[in-house]
Amino acid sequence: MSEWHEKIEFRKVIVPDELEQLFEIDRRIFSAFPADLFSAEEWAEFESYWMIVDGTTVGCSAFLRDTDFDIEPRPGCLHIMTTGVLPEFRRRGYGAKQKQWQIEFAKQQGFQVIVTNTRASNVAMIELNLKMGFQIRGSSPHFYFEPDETAIVMELPLRSGPSAPSSDQPNA
Ligand SMILES: CC(C)(COP(=O)(O)OP(=O)(O)OC[C@H]1O[C@@H](n2cnc3c(N)ncnc32)[C@H](O)[C@@H]1OP(=O)(O)O)[C@@H](O)C(=O)NCCC(=O)NCCS
Repeated sequence: MSEWHEKIEFRKVIVPDELEQLFEIDRRIFSAFPADLFSAEEWAEFESYWMIVDGTTVGCSAFLRDTDFDIEPRPGCLHIMTTGVLPEFRRRGYGAKQKQWQIEFAKQQGFQVIVTNTRASNVAMIELNLKMGFQIRGSSPHFYFEPDETAIVMELPLRSGPSAPSSDQPNA
């Protein structure tokens, strides 16, 4: 199937105006882990972007600037709080395109490193991050609850040059 004609956009989420849409998409993306859903207060702290393909919202990214995975201050670090593609759009390359855009966004915004964390059982996210050049920095036991689970912490240094393809230009 050819994808050359698809128009992919990343548009900043307007909070609180689009909070209900955020709750809804987060609930659908993370249906397996309701305890991981973010609150209104958390969404208000994040900088979030819709991923829109040909006018249809297929996923969402959220960032915290200058913050490590445990929310400690870390200048120069972009913390990816969420990377998500709706279930019905998965395994079509949109997760990889979203990740490429996140990396370009971080570079253009002058960050030196990207950090992200995920449940140890989240093979899809870990594999996607590894594919895009992230390395496993370590693990954090009991980071998640309901169910209790270790977080795998992954990083991508940006100063030493790109390690992933970057054909899509961020437009947000
Ligand atoms: C992780 C996620 C974003 C991947 O999105 P996607 O659009 O399905 O990913 P892609 O189709 O672009 O796949 C890219 C690569 O990711 C990896 N991958 C994706 N889904 C996978 C799966 N179910 N199992 C193993 N690897 C997987 C593969 O390496 C894949 O490359 P390939 O297709 O050449 O094998 C999606 O599964 C998702 O939204 N999950 C729920 C949200 C979540 O857990 N987010 C992480 C915590 S913040």
